[in-house]
Amino acid sequence: MKGIILAGGSATRLFPSSKSISKQIMPVYDKPMIYYSLSTLMLAKIREVLIISTPRDLTTFKQLLGRGDDFGMRFEYVVQNVPNGLAQAFILGEKFIGDDHVCLVLGDNIFYGHGFSRILHKVQLQIEGAYIFGYYTKMNKAYGVVSFDSIGNVLSIEEKPTYPQSYYVIPGLYFYDNSVIEKSKRLKLSIRGEYEITDLNNIYLNEKKLKVFLFGRGFVWLDAGNSDSLLDAACFVETIQKKQGFYIACIEEIAWRNGWIDNEKLKQLGKSMCKTEYGRYILSLFN
Ligand code: G1P
Repeated sequence: MKGIILAGGSATRLFPSSKSISKQIMPVYDKPMIYYSLSTLMLAKIREVLIISTPRDLTTFKQLLGRGDDFGMRFEYVVQNVPNGLAQAFILGEKFIGDDHVCLVLGDNIFYGHGFSRILHKVQLQIEGAYIFGYYTKMNKAYGVVSFDSIGNVLSIEEKPTYPQSYYVIPGLYFYDNSVIEKSKRLKLSIRGEYEITDLNNIYLNEKKLKVFLFGRGFVWLDAGNSDSLLDAACFVETIQKKQGFYIACIEEIAWRNGWIDNEKLKQLGKSMCKTEYGRYILSLFN
């Protein structure tokens, strides 16, 4: 399975902070925002990742993450010239995806919860069509919304509906089989001028090939798209890390625990950041 991180867009909801830098480079507490979505893919044991961003920002991501050697991974990069919507990721990533299945994660989505790796593993075993997620929230008008009948069958998927049919919204994490490339090519631009992921999911739904996994109420999903949600996310990460002593989205740790890098490499990465708590945390993992 291949992974794609979509880290484009103009992030106008974070202006002026994001006027000259990518939102997904900005820190959520102690690490760049993109670490969180990258860690999601790594927890799913996805080693090959395509990062899509704007012509202005792609170089910054390359500087930050390189070719992936530090993490025993392989990163590729592709430019999205115009922010034409999420579903465009599969057209831009066609060559990279090849004949594989693919997981798309949005660069500003943060997932945290007990058993998350197991959920990701379970979902991957069942990919035949599309597998998406549902998350209960009262702030449902701002997202894609999925509704169900009384026995749990999906009835509808709507993008930012004025009258939402349920409180289950669709977070920015999607698993698709290889037909996603061909399906994306069939999409038409929406009224807001985007190739909508919701239209793509509706194609799978009409073919009866869409599954939805519902996160429970103990699960945390945050999208750090404006100043308030960015601060909320930072405070959340700080609280958990300080209280537990375990770090969220420490990609060096995950690479090591996945067996993708050895002790020596982890030590080297930790030492290069030893003036920060983050670096010292990495070095403490040996104990
Ligand atoms: C996008 C999707 C929406 C999804 C959301 C998750 O919204 O279109 O369906 O619920 O991401 O973050 P957008 O970021 O375009 O507002």
